[in-house]
Amino acid sequence: MLIKRPEAIKPSEITDQATYLERRRFIRDSGLLGVGVAATLAGLPWAKNSWAEAPDRRPFPELRKSPFSIDEKLTEYEDATSYNNFYEFGTGKSDPKENAQSFVPRPWSVVVDGACEKPGSYDLEDFLRPHPLEERIYRLRCVEAWSMVIPWVGFSLGDALKRFQPTSRAKYVAFYTLHDPERMPGQKRQVLKWPYREGLRMDEAMHPLAMLAVGMYGAELPNQNGAPLRLVVPWKYGFKSIKSIVRISFTEEQPVCTWNQVQPNEYGFYSNVNPNVDHLRWSQKKERRIGNWLKQETLMFNGYAEQVASLYSGMDLKQYF
Ligand code: MTE
Repeated sequence: MLIKRPEAIKPSEITDQATYLERRRFIRDSGLLGVGVAATLAGLPWAKNSWAEAPDRRPFPELRKSPFSIDEKLTEYEDATSYNNFYEFGTGKSDPKENAQSFVPRPWSVVVDGACEKPGSYDLEDFLRPHPLEERIYRLRCVEAWSMVIPWVGFSLGDALKRFQPTSRAKYVAFYTLHDPERMPGQKRQVLKWPYREGLRMDEAMHPLAMLAVGMYGAELPNQNGAPLRLVVPWKYGFKSIKSIVRISFTEEQPVCTWNQVQPNEYGFYSNVNPNVDHLRWSQKKERRIGNWLKQETLMFNGYAEQVASLYSGMDLKQYF
């Protein structure tokens, strides 16, 4: 995400980082090819693909496969965990991985409050217990015009929300990230108004595609990807998918959301992926899939139009961007 002043940033700066990553991968893979062949010949056990590189995270055994999964090539684990946006750990793409290593996402609790019958503070384990975990392979499209394909581990957000019995006053649901500058050093700088917040309309939140994730690539979420609990809303730009959630609040009014608050004319409350509505400073028609050389067309609602378009029927998507 970009918080430079509009006149100071060129769209080309955005894709440059993705191109850089491509180059880095090319150099790495070319080098590894030789090493890999040598290792296989030598019978070394570490000559495996990058899926195996999730050393310190607990795996989730026996995950159900979700019918919502797409059949597209997965982004490499290494890329999905080293090219991140997580301003609580720095504003550069490689900062979160570097700076989040000492973050300990335990003990953890989630406060549920606002317009619901069962508010409370829930230990993460209690919050998660009723929900069988499944793997869902989703596209992730960042507003910066790059994208990935990630196998998340989690469950439908709506299933969790129902447990707290939202009342008829609950028109929206707001989410908050942990605010603790000692543990999240990026919060020592006022680059954003902390804590990071996001929100959905209630019917969006109850849509079966919206999920809470606790893992990716078959194991616990790495810190830089939002451990221990994050939102994933695959038809919206990535910034709606808030990380490291500590509070969920049912509200009557549309909640304040971080990027919408910073630059309302650039980052709308809805932020549905829409190739027909350009960002003020760059086109949204195409995207660079991390791992591919060529850009590809961006799909309406990130390819989930069939499932979610009806949520917005009758709305002018240019006005409510
Ligand atoms: N959540 C918090 N708390 N802080 C952030 O800076 N960045 C958002 C979103 N969630 C962000 C956040 C943005 S801009 C994107 S694109 C996605 O996380 C990136 O998720 P990833 O790093 O797992 O790919």
